[in-house]
Amino acid sequence: MGLPDGFLWGGALAANQAEGGWNEGGRGPAVSDVAKYRPNVDPREYAVHHQHTLASIAAAMADDDISLYPKRRGIDFYHRYREDLALFAEMGFSVLRVSIAWSRLYPTGEEQEPNEEGIAFYLDLFTEMRRLGIRPLVTLSHYDPPLALALKNNAWVDRGTIALFERFSRTCFERFGHLVDLWLSFNEIDGIIRHPFTSGGIIDETVEGSLEQACYTALHHQFVASASVTRILHELWPESEMGCMLTMLTTYPNTCHPDDVAATQAKERLLYLCTDVQAGGAYPRLALKALEAKGIVIPFEEGDVELLRAHPVDYISFSYYMTLTESVRPDAERTPGNTVLGVKNPFLESSEWGWQIDPVGLRISLIDLYDRYGKPLFIVENGLGMRDELTDDGRIHDPYRIDYFRSHFAEMIRAVDEGVDLRGYASWAPIDIISASSSQISKRYGFIHVDQDDLGNGTGERRRKDSFFWYRKVIASNGADL
Ligand code: BG6
Repeated sequence: MGLPDGFLWGGALAANQAEGGWNEGGRGPAVSDVAKYRPNVDPREYAVHHQHTLASIAAAMADDDISLYPKRRGIDFYHRYREDLALFAEMGFSVLRVSIAWSRLYPTGEEQEPNEEGIAFYLDLFTEMRRLGIRPLVTLSHYDPPLALALKNNAWVDRGTIALFERFSRTCFERFGHLVDLWLSFNEIDGIIRHPFTSGGIIDETVEGSLEQACYTALHHQFVASASVTRILHELWPESEMGCMLTMLTTYPNTCHPDDVAATQAKERLLYLCTDVQAGGAYPRLALKALEAKGIVIPFEEGDVELLRAHPVDYISFSYYMTLTESVRPDAERTPGNTVLGVKNPFLESSEWGWQIDPVGLRISLIDLYDRYGKPLFIVENGLGMRDELTDDGRIHDPYRIDYFRSHFAEMIRAVDEGVDLRGYASWAPIDIISASSSQISKRYGFIHVDQDDLGNGTGERRRKDSFFWYRKVIASNGADL
């Protein structure tokens, strides 16, 4: 009983939230570079906050007050990655999930040849990881399409973006494939419906027709691109694996009223749509019907159906932070989750950001996903965003974080004991980084504290929190000592 030998333990980061160096080494601007600092963004306004107009993009690009655009500086992982990797190795990591910034390799997305300075950076990064015994798990697209593609043709709405992404991905496989054998195509691919600009480079005001249609068009293009790069990877490196990635927004019926159950079921159908396509190889009939009823047309072209069917992913990965409930009562009390609003669960506690803490939900999610697809699973994000306090002794005592992980690990191990094939676990984020939703760093996730405030003040010094030592012990015992 317990976790199998060879279970991968580690953490996960994204280039746009950690690297910084936004205009160094030949990198082009990405959509994340215009994301403005907005503390405690109300999730009711989440989509609006992440929406951009041509004017707001132009204003952001002309604004050189970097304090307001935290994703441009991240935590300077671009320069400090050796130090950070050494700390991850000290915790005993056997895996680290990072992403490659597309615009570091192809500054506008459209160049014929890659930027060699960008290649050199990732080669160094992956080489150092391997030297330390840390296996890279690499995301090709994590919320940072090149800004130039967004401005030119709404990035993923345009079918031509598939070929550009194929070129970028092929470069990654050719240049890094000897060091990287675990890949992910799109981070939280379903997120494009909730934040079209961040995930898909879609600028609402320049979209022809409805924004919702544009989102599903772009999503279809990402599905095709994902299948296509899975094919390319397997041709070049037959032993390497490609995964899909889902925001696991597990939702319970708020009551046993049949209407609540039916509403939850409808929500679940859309939740699983992406994995059905990427792991199952086809759009499910009921989801297609539901989209058709909304007037959405999926822009199939010749060969798409066959490509999707022939090149499903090898494993399924997901992020898990919280659960929500669903109710048909319009007056039901709502609470935020990961870029969504849902109905509050009276049995759960929430973080300051309103995300409901639900360790059992992780077991339920693992079992649901494994039961439905029967493919290996990988938890590639899970964690708790909290404010931390530096005490007079220069330490960060974070028992709340340890409690969160301890209870989630217990449920994860229970799911494995029940038969789930889980390959690994990567916490989000092992070191404090910039929040995707609000661009705060004060919403801290790490086992490692970074001396930096929301406006970028601080030395950048890294400090081990109490949870650092606890996680090291968990990893050393392969989850036996929680
Ligand atoms: C996931 C994203 O949805 O949630 C990450 O893939 C993100 O990029 C994480 O950072 C936590 O969300 P936030 O908004 O608290 O940073």
